[in-house]
Amino acid sequence: MINIGIIGCGRIAQVRHIPEYDQNPDACIYGVYDMNEKRTEEIAAKYHAVPYKSYEDLLNDEAIDAVSICTANHSHCEISIKALKSGKHVLCEKPMAVTYDECQAMVNAAKETGKFLMIGQQERLFPTHVKAKEILQSGAIGNVLSFHTNFRHSGPENWTVDRQKVWFFDKRSAAFGAMADLGIHKADLIHYLLDDVIESAMAVTETLDKKNPDGTPIDVDDNAVCIFRTQNGVIGTMEVSWTCYGQEDKSTIIYGTNGSLKINCDPQYPIILEKKSGEQINFDMKNYHSSQNGSGIIDTWMTCLTTNTPPLISGASSFESMKAVFAALESAEKGCVVNTKSLS
Ligand SMILES: NC(=O)c1ccc[n+]([C@@H]2O[C@H](COP(=O)([O-])OP(=O)(O)OC[C@H]3O[C@@H](n4cnc5c(N)ncnc54)[C@H](O)[C@@H]3O)[C@@H](O)[C@H]2O)c1
Repeated sequence: MINIGIIGCGRIAQVRHIPEYDQNPDACIYGVYDMNEKRTEEIAAKYHAVPYKSYEDLLNDEAIDAVSICTANHSHCEISIKALKSGKHVLCEKPMAVTYDECQAMVNAAKETGKFLMIGQQERLFPTHVKAKEILQSGAIGNVLSFHTNFRHSGPENWTVDRQKVWFFDKRSAAFGAMADLGIHKADLIHYLLDDVIESAMAVTETLDKKNPDGTPIDVDDNAVCIFRTQNGVIGTMEVSWTCYGQEDKSTIIYGTNGSLKINCDPQYPIILEKKSGEQINFDMKNYHSSQNGSGIIDTWMTCLTTNTPPLISGASSFESMKAVFAALESAEKGCVVNTKSLS
């Protein structure tokens, strides 16, 4: 049995980490901590876990083998590094951290301590994406030339546990807006699907609609449009938004020399393969059930821990995706193309 500590008991912990650990036969939710003491007590009581008074107390408990870090973005780096140095394996939520140097420090700490660092980039595990990658690797659309990927929803104020005070809109806690909150998922997905790495970015970010309670615009962007180029010379666009007040949009299209692959563009057929010859193959994905619970992130993590196998969704690989986000943010600020190699 692997003893797990949960740090941050808000929405993502309550809808994903905790229930998925609860369903995993190798995991014991041993202890919990949230800076909201009442929440710590409630979650501890519900899952028969130890409530801690601070995350340091949780990390100092030698009974705990690994932690899930589900706190606001600005604290990911500090807590992850302290956890790794306390001898815990770390699963940290996305976005990995809020600066390039913080991401690098987390990767270094994992290397130095020999402990696992995994980031909650679950899009790589979705059955539709796994199948899409298999189709791309089979050469069905030839060589990839370009892509278009989207992530649009109505905003985090409809998600967070603390709806009165939305930390996602506060630059000190969130550091980023929609560009990184949603864009990190899509940059990571493109890396996964194409086995390629985004090398440069040009982006525009805006705060178009979200307001603070006093009516002033929020501190961070609520929309972003990016143009990327990869190491293999593929070009593509990414659009992310917190102001999509209709149906959520998580569509991606990959264009190749012999056809196109449409992912999540049609509610009936999550994957549509359109060949240059005119042939169209629709995948309804009904036969592609995952054996994993929920998002699969916790089962994947638990397999790493129980088999002592380094995670594929490692800190180092997530850092590569974060570089695309940092390049896009710098581009939006400076109004020029930014290469990831110039970041630091
Ligand atoms: N993988 C995904 O798809 C996904 C989805 C949503 C959120 N997230 C990420 O998960 C993290 C948490 O987001 P959420 O949606 O659960 O937010 P939330 O507001 O619902 O919950 C955050 C919780 O963390 C607590 N907290 C904040 N800072 C803390 C600290 N320093 N120490 C202890 N507790 C602290 C808060 O009291 C709250 O209970 C964020 O980094 C977010 O980007 C990931």
